[in-house]
Amino acid sequence: MRECFVELGARRYPVRIGTNLLDDAAVLSALVPGRQALIVSDGNVAPLYLAKVQAALAGKTTGHFILPPGEQEKNLARFSEVLAALAVLGASRDVTVIALGGGVVGDLAGFAAASWMRGVRFVQLPTTLLAMVDSSVGGKTAVDLPAGKNLVGAFHQPSAVLADTATLATLPMRELRAGLAEVVKIGAIGDAAFFAWLEGQAEALLVREPEAIAEAIFHSCMHKAGVVARDETEQGERALLNFGHTFGHAIETEQEFGGLNHGEAVAVGMVLAARLSTALGRAPQADAERLEALLDRLGLPTVLPAGLAPETLLARMRLDKKAVSGQLRLILWRGIGRAEIVANVPETAVLQALRG
Ligand code: NAD
Ligand code: GLY
Repeated sequence: MRECFVELGARRYPVRIGTNLLDDAAVLSALVPGRQALIVSDGNVAPLYLAKVQAALAGKTTGHFILPPGEQEKNLARFSEVLAALAVLGASRDVTVIALGGGVVGDLAGFAAASWMRGVRFVQLPTTLLAMVDSSVGGKTAVDLPAGKNLVGAFHQPSAVLADTATLATLPMRELRAGLAEVVKIGAIGDAAFFAWLEGQAEALLVREPEAIAEAIFHSCMHKAGVVARDETEQGERALLNFGHTFGHAIETEQEFGGLNHGEAVAVGMVLAARLSTALGRAPQADAERLEALLDRLGLPTVLPAGLAPETLLARMRLDKKAVSGQLRLILWRGIGRAEIVANVPETAVLQALRG
């Protein structure tokens, strides 16, 4: 098992990464110090792993809420259903909300934990690569609105993250690739050596070679834990983790959360951000080409899906959380490992990048 910590003073918490962690009843039970727990999961994950978690919590009063799989379920209606499940459980302030699943489950359950009685204990048991390397760490919780991704939410840190890498054995290939997009992002924004390591390990990662996967998760978590400890509420540096996301979120919203998945949209978004950086004279074209080549080898999309109008995407991007006073603020880069926040990006240049 590998472990790192998100250093937030009294709210410091561990991120544990290892195989078969969900089989350790003592460890799972210790995550619930109170008498009650609500386990939130989805219709793909629950049949595979819910029983293990329930068995470990046998002495507690537990309930569960299972939502249908998919980004379209990360909405306000499902959010109120999780709250209703907490009410049915009779959840008091010492309840623990457990997210067992991918980022959709984690973001939704986390927002419910942030809101129930103004905030209760929350534990992340991520089962997708994307959730293990990114969404389970850092305390961003949210649901989507038809107007945009993650527009309603809260910062609410988990008390622990337990990533059982054995669960990745059942993860569909498309979802594995989506997680790799966020791993590439870590190298692209701040770690050129890690990016080069990924170029060397692409095939090992695609066949889920355990050492390569564990290293990719651990490295990504270490990087993110450091960023979150320094800038929990995204006043500065944390925004760099959104490389490719302003484009990606616009794509996801425009496709009504039923087209590209999050990792795929981020992959396209990173290529667009890199190309825009080149067009603005901020970064070498060769680095954009290296990024595109790696994403391509990992089987991720690198061009906009057909049928999306650049003008409409640009309008969506104006509602991004990083925009200030109606001006686009984007995460661009100087090249591999050197992302930066850029304000007042000219919309004509963005449109040009969207038009390819
Ligand atoms: P997801 O939660 O939709 O999971 C992807 C699919 O895999 C689902 O169909 C799910 O049922 C299935 N699945 C999950 N684990 C499985 C397993 N072990 N075996 C078989 N099937 C499994 O998607 P995701 O990619 O995990 O997360 C995407 C979400 O995360 C987006 O909503 C995104 O906005 C959010 N996100 C949040 C943060 C954050 O900091 N909070 C960061 C990145 C992404
Ligand atoms: N995924 C971006 C962040 O957590 O800040």
